[in-house]
Amino acid sequence: MKIDVQATSPLKHPCPALIIGCFEDAADELFSACDIALGGCLSRLAASKEFSGKANSSRLIHTLGKLPAERLLLVGLGKKAELDDERLRQAAGNAVQALRAARVASFATALHLAGKTENALEAVCEGTLLGSYSFDQYKTKEQEDRFSFAGLTLLLPKGLTKKEAAARVERTALLCQGVSLARDLVSHPGNVATTGYLADTAHKLAARHTLTCEILELDELERLGMNALIAVGKGSLEPPRLIVLEYHGAGDKERPVVLVGKGITFDSGGISIKPGAGMEEMKTDMAGSAAVLGAMEAAAGLRLPVNLVGIIPTAENMPDGKAYKPGDVLTSLSGTTIEITNTDAEGRLVLCDALHFAQRYKPAAMIDLATLTGACVVALGHEASGLMGNDQRLVNALKKAGESCGERVWELPLWDSYGEAMKSDIADLKNAGSRDGGSITAGWFLKQFVGTTRWAHLDIAGTAWSDKSRPCSPKGATGVGVRLLIEYLRGR
Ligand code: BES
Ligand code: MN
Ligand code: ZN
Repeated sequence: MKIDVQATSPLKHPCPALIIGCFEDAADELFSACDIALGGCLSRLAASKEFSGKANSSRLIHTLGKLPAERLLLVGLGKKAELDDERLRQAAGNAVQALRAARVASFATALHLAGKTENALEAVCEGTLLGSYSFDQYKTKEQEDRFSFAGLTLLLPKGLTKKEAAARVERTALLCQGVSLARDLVSHPGNVATTGYLADTAHKLAARHTLTCEILELDELERLGMNALIAVGKGSLEPPRLIVLEYHGAGDKERPVVLVGKGITFDSGGISIKPGAGMEEMKTDMAGSAAVLGAMEAAAGLRLPVNLVGIIPTAENMPDGKAYKPGDVLTSLSGTTIEITNTDAEGRLVLCDALHFAQRYKPAAMIDLATLTGACVVALGHEASGLMGNDQRLVNALKKAGESCGERVWELPLWDSYGEAMKSDIADLKNAGSRDGGSITAGWFLKQFVGTTRWAHLDIAGTAWSDKSRPCSPKGATGVGVRLLIEYLRGR
């Protein structure tokens, strides 16, 4: 979608549709001016309770020549005192989804003019771009019905130069490009988004932004002894790989932030095979790796002043004569031995080798993202990602980032006593305990491989995919993690 900023007044701006914000309990200047121009139509809609300005509501009306805009999309902002950036983002996302439903391809927005916060323009731009996302690459029929947005005009707010506003819009678009990349990767089916596809994506990303990219292939993984990662990939014809991307945005002496993303391109469960119903959703088991790639894309595009390393252990978890199996004992890269009690607990295996490997970068902080446990979905549903870590400052910084960007996280405890469930009779650890506290025991397992590095783990099993449309995230892949990571990096 083409985006531009224009300095016209909303009352004088000709366009197919103009979006304006409406409060439940107050009429601002723009609302009143539109109401007068339309002969009291807006107050009548309010009086009859057809449109009351409640958050998450919208109403499209035709202006019949009474305003230069052909249509007005009224968007509820709720109570005036409660307005914040997240409310604005969601209103903008709802608005653009309403315009898609009405098939209005180009429009102007004045929503941010109702906002009083410093970042109102960014919030509205972000919500609009995120809400306008769609993925239809695999649809070949009904081409003529296909809809795509053509252009968005943001009307210039008071107190900002056009140049400054355009720069803010550009930064927001770069962030949203990272989110879109992550969503696309998760949306692609498992037969397309293979381990090789993730490696190609990383290569292309590196070429776009002059990052360094290294792919460790199977022979190299064997030489290093990444046997946990290798074991998970053994049942598949797609070889496992370790993808390493480096972005240098700060001085050579500055220690990097390392991002690690689970990249299981399809999780059948392996020999401990999953039930068939809903198994197709397991194409999303590489959402952690998608978040890392999306965050690298955005960080490099935005030229953030940090050093970043993105590490992606990727494999396909399949049953086969060569597959790893329950009872097997693996020697992981760190030397720690692991008894396999469930081949469906594969995420922690590919991550444990990646987390150990990551320590060679002497990270200032390390954050992993993984669709790790069904237990996390049971605990938090689809509203928040699970958060654990060994460093309260890092955990708190991620909580703060989540609060301000709208990607919610919720901390779970990681007490040592949870480790009892992961002790094996034959090896140092087993890879799966009982179902009780499943997200935490998985987190505890990962913790055994991070050494003294400041580390946090995000379980995104419940948040990477949404079965329902949300304001800033149409049904499907959410791209969760990208905005959270960028917000965290900006706050450092
Ligand atoms: N990829 C799954 C977790 C998952 C579940 C992600 C639902 C998204 C939605 C993971 O590899 C898995 O299978 N975990 C097992 C662990 C168990 C065997 C200890 C689980 O959660 O059941
Ligand atoms: Mn699994
Ligand atoms: Zn998995």
